[in-house]
Parts: sequence; C-alpha cells; structure tokens
Amino acid sequence: MKVLGIESSCDETGLAIVDTDKGLKAHVLHSQVDLHAAYGGVVPELASRDHVARLPQLLEQLFARAGHGPEQIDAVAYTAGPGLMGALLAGASAARAFAWARGIPSLGVHHMEGHMLAPMLEEQAPAFPFLSMLVSGGHTMLIRVDGVGRYRLLGETLDDAAGEAFDKTAKMMGLGYPGGPLLASLAESGDPAAFGFARPMTNRPGLDFSFSGLKTAAITAWRQAGASEAVRADVAASFQAAVIDTLRIKCERALRQEGLQRLVIAGGVGANRQLRAQFEAHFGAAGVAVFYPRIEFCTDNGAMIALAGSLRLAAGQCDARDGFRVRARWPMEELTPLS
Ligand code: KG4
Ligand code: ZN
Repeated sequence: MKVLGIESSCDETGLAIVDTDKGLKAHVLHSQVDLHAAYGGVVPELASRDHVARLPQLLEQLFARAGHGPEQIDAVAYTAGPGLMGALLAGASAARAFAWARGIPSLGVHHMEGHMLAPMLEEQAPAFPFLSMLVSGGHTMLIRVDGVGRYRLLGETLDDAAGEAFDKTAKMMGLGYPGGPLLASLAESGDPAAFGFARPMTNRPGLDFSFSGLKTAAITAWRQAGASEAVRADVAASFQAAVIDTLRIKCERALRQEGLQRLVIAGGVGANRQLRAQFEAHFGAAGVAVFYPRIEFCTDNGAMIALAGSLRLAAGQCDARDGFRVRARWPMEELTPLS
C-alpha cells in the first residue's frame, strides 16, 4: 500500500510517500523559516496561508520525485494535531480533498506519534519496547513505547520544552530565529565549563523536567557579563551542556526504572550534534542502543506522518467518511493501540 503523508502543523510543509512494503519512496519539504524570520517567531496566519499556497506545487514535486502519479496512491495520512489550528486545517483539507477525489481512505495522525516512530524509517529501526525521548519546540517527554499506540508517559516538562528553552535563550541573546540551531552552532566555539549552570531537577527523584530556570540563569549570566559578544559563545555552550546533561541523566534513570536497553531520540532537538555525540558516547559504553531519525527527519517532515499513518491505515484504521477534526491539543494517551 502506498500512503501519501502531509505535515503542516507549524512552519514546515512536508509531503512524502511511504510504501508499506518498500519503505520511503519520496519526500519534499518547504521550510517557512525565511517567512517568519523578520518577526522573530512563527506568525500563525502567515503559516496557514503559506501552507495553502505551496501545497499544490509541492505535491507535483513529490510525484515527480516518486516517478509516478496520484493514481498510485492508496491512502492519505495528514497531521491532525497537536499544532496551529489554521496550519493544521490547510494540510488536513488538502489531504481530505485528495482522498475524496480519488475515493481512497484518509487518516488524521498525531504529530508526536509521527516524531516518535520516525526512526522506523531508517535501516536500523528500533524493535519494541523502547524508551522514547521526545524533545521538540513544544514537548519534552519520556515515553515507554510497547507498540504503535501503546504509550506510557513517564515524565515531561513542567514549564518550557527543551527546544523552547533553546529558542528563548537564543532570542534573548540576540541570536534571532530559529534560535535552537543558531545557539547550537555558536556553542561550538564556546567553553561548556565556563558557567556552572544547574542540571534542573536531577537531584531529586522522578522523571519530570524544568527548563525555565535554566533559561533565566543563562540570560542573567550573559547580561551580568555586560551582554558582551565575548562571553556569548561560552554562555551558549554552558547552557547547551546543562540541557544535554539533564536530558541524559533522566533518560538513564528512565531506562533503569523500566528495564529497557533501547532509546529513541525524536523531535527537533534530536538534531543537536553535541547531544548526539554525548548520548552516543555515554549510552554506547553502557550497552544501550540509541536510535535517531536521520537529521532531516528530526524536525517536522511529511515522511514521519506517512509512516505513522501507513501503520495505522494498514491495520484498517481510517477517518469517518464525512467531517474531520483537527486539534490544537491532543494528549498522546488518547491514541488507540494497534491490535
Ligand atoms: O520537532 P520540531 O521541528 O517542531 C516541533 O514539533 O516543535 O522541533 C523544533 C525545535 C525548535 O525549538 C528548534 O529550535 C529545535 O527543535 N532545534 C534544535 C536544533 N535544531 C532544531 N535545538 C537545538 N539544537 C539543534 N541543532
Ligand atoms: Zn514537530
């Protein structure tokens, strides 16, 4: 079965085709970074309009890459939440129209389930059960995954998500948008030991996170140093080291608690090179297998939606014939397990 996947929950329009027998066939992606850069963050109305404007051309590009036409598609999956309502509606309407016109089934997919299953697009795919660390702009979660739809939330952030803390810290230090990757590249030239930031909530039991205080500590340190260019890289490197250490300590704790030996890192912050290097070194030595999607599938993309949708569609799930729903918020625990 060939499944068309459409992602449009935020500031990326991503389309892909996944074949349930042969894997990923083709994908295309348009990032709206340039569109939102002038505003220092995502402007929801501009995001929705841009998705609408670009979807037809991206669809054409996708089929050109796949080397076949829309008639070969058997089902359509689209991101139905969580995300920006207007942006979600743009992708969902396109997906539903495509499915309706061709008389094929469609299915609304949970964006975070897409992120979580994205490593299954790789040759080295993780087997169930595994621990998933979801680190994106909106979420920081540790989830035990026993199968598709069989998720147990072990811990999450009580305030800022890891990516959000990267973005806000970068913005306050004048690095612009998108902050995470900019701060990460600045950190390469800084000293991670220059500032001894706390590793929040690691000195007490539990698997929850809190990054808001760390963000404030980093911004305060930078201001106290006269907001100077010279220390900016050091603050960035020290902040990044504190986030990575904190994530690693909690992962280690969760793996031990659950008796798991496989760890999946998903979401935009998983693209962080330093995080990958440190997790590889640390968990490799401890005999834990660490799985990531390829870098381009860490951030939002259509391939992960096509994949998650294909697993559910192949098991017989699909939207009701009339009407559909997108959701700004959608707790993962509401997802149904595949039987
Ligand atoms: O998964 P994603 O594309 O979108 C959400 O669902 O949120 O994640 C985007 C987040 C942003 O906060 C971005 O700053 C962060 O991932 N991010 C990074 C890096 N690349 C993206 N954070 C740290 N280092 C990176 N290299
Ligand atoms: Zn995402």
